[in-house]
Amino acid sequence: MKDAIQAAEHAAMHKLLPPSLFSGLLAISSDAVIAVDDEQRIIFFNEGAERIFGWAADEVGGRYLEILLPERYRAAHRGHVHGFGAAHGRARLMGERQQLSGLRRDGEEFPCEAAIQRIEVEGRNVFAAVLRDITARQRAEDTVREAVTAREDMLGIVSHDLRNPANAVKMLAKSILDDATRERLPEQITERVAMIQQAAQQMDSLIQDLLDTTRLASGRLRVDPQPMDAGVVVERSVDAMRSLADAARISLEATVPAGLPQVLADADRVSQLFSNLIGNAIKFTPPGGAVTLVVHADGDAVLFVLRDTGVGISAEDLPHVFERFYQGERGTGRTARHGAGLGLPIARGIVEAHGGHIWIDSLPGAGTTVRFYLPVAPPA
Ligand SMILES: Nc1ncnc2c1ncn2[C@@H]1O[C@H](COP(=O)(O)OP(=O)(O)O)[C@@H](O)[C@H]1O
Ligand SMILES: [Mg+2]
Repeated sequence: MKDAIQAAEHAAMHKLLPPSLFSGLLAISSDAVIAVDDEQRIIFFNEGAERIFGWAADEVGGRYLEILLPERYRAAHRGHVHGFGAAHGRARLMGERQQLSGLRRDGEEFPCEAAIQRIEVEGRNVFAAVLRDITARQRAEDTVREAVTAREDMLGIVSHDLRNPANAVKMLAKSILDDATRERLPEQITERVAMIQQAAQQMDSLIQDLLDTTRLASGRLRVDPQPMDAGVVVERSVDAMRSLADAARISLEATVPAGLPQVLADADRVSQLFSNLIGNAIKFTPPGGAVTLVVHADGDAVLFVLRDTGVGISAEDLPHVFERFYQGERGTGRTARHGAGLGLPIARGIVEAHGGHIWIDSLPGAGTTVRFYLPVAPPA
C-alpha cells in the first residue's frame, strides 16, 4: 500500500501520472472520498460523496464535517478526531471499526464503513476518508439472517406441536391393540390399527429427528454421559432391532469381548445412534445378507465397528452422507419413505457430542462399514 503510494508519487513527480488522472479516478469511485482540514472543514467532496450524501460539493465545501454525521454521534466524533490526530500517521482501514453511521441531506441515516488517513500537506494536517454506503449489503445480510432464524423457529415449533397428536395416535392405537381389547375386535380392524400405529411411530421418529436436527444446527444437542457397560448397550440395541432384521431376512450379530472397559456415554443417545446405524444397515442390505457389530477396546476409547453386506455407497455419495437431508441415489428409491436423510447427521452429532469420531468406508456392491469411537469412562 505504502509502496504503491510512493510509486505513484514518484511517477507523478516525473509527470508520468498527470493530476487529471487522480481527479478522474476520484470521480469514478462509487465510494465517497472526502477530505477535511485540521479544523474539520470539508475541502474535498467527490462525486461518490455527492451521490451518497445528497449534497453538492460546492454546498458542503468549507462546512464542518459534522453535517454528514447523525446528531448523536457528533460529540463522540470530535473525540475520535483528537485521538486520531494524536496517533501519528496511523490509517484506519475499512471494516476495522464496527459500525459507522452517515447522515444524508434528507435526514436519512445509513450504515457505512470508512477508511481514514491523516496526510500532511505543506505542513498542515489533512484527513482523508473513503466511505462506503453499506445499506444494501446490510439489508441483504439481515434478510438472510431473518430467513435462517424463521426457518429454525418454524422447524422447532412444527416439530413440537406435531409430536403431541402423533403421540396420541400412537398411544390410542396401542390401547386398541392391548390383548383385552384386541380379542373383542375382528382381525381386519386390528390389522389396520396396527398399520395406524406403525405410521404414527414413523411420524414420531421423523419429528424427533427434525427436532434433533434443529438442535444440532443451533449447537443445542446435549448429552448427559454416564459411565456404562458398552456390552449392555450393544445387546439392548441389537435386541431392539432384531424384529426389523428378521422381517428383512437379515442376520444380525454382535460380538462383545469380555473385560471391555466402561464407556462414558448418554444411554438414550447411544441407543438412538445404534438404531440409526443398524436401521441403515438393515435398510440397505438385501434379504439373505448380514449385519455384524464388533466392539474393541482401543486405548482410552472403545471402537464400534458395524458392517453390512449391503448395496454400499457410491464414491459420489460417500462424502455427503453426513450432510442433513442428504440421501444417496438408493436412499431415495423404494426405501425413501423410511427416512429423510437425517439419520447419519444425527449419528455424527451424537458421537461428536461425546467427544468421539465417526467415519464410513464402503464398497458399492459389497457393503458398508461404519466405525465410531466413544470415550472410556475414567476410573471411579
Ligand atoms: N449402511 C448403508 N449402506 C448403504 N448406504 C447407506 C448406509 N447408511 C447410509 N447410507 C446412505 O447414506 C444416506 C444417508 O443416510 P441417513 O442420513 O441415515 O438417511 P436415510 O436413511 O433417511 O436415507 C442414505 O440415503 C444412503 O444413501
Ligand atoms: Mg437412515
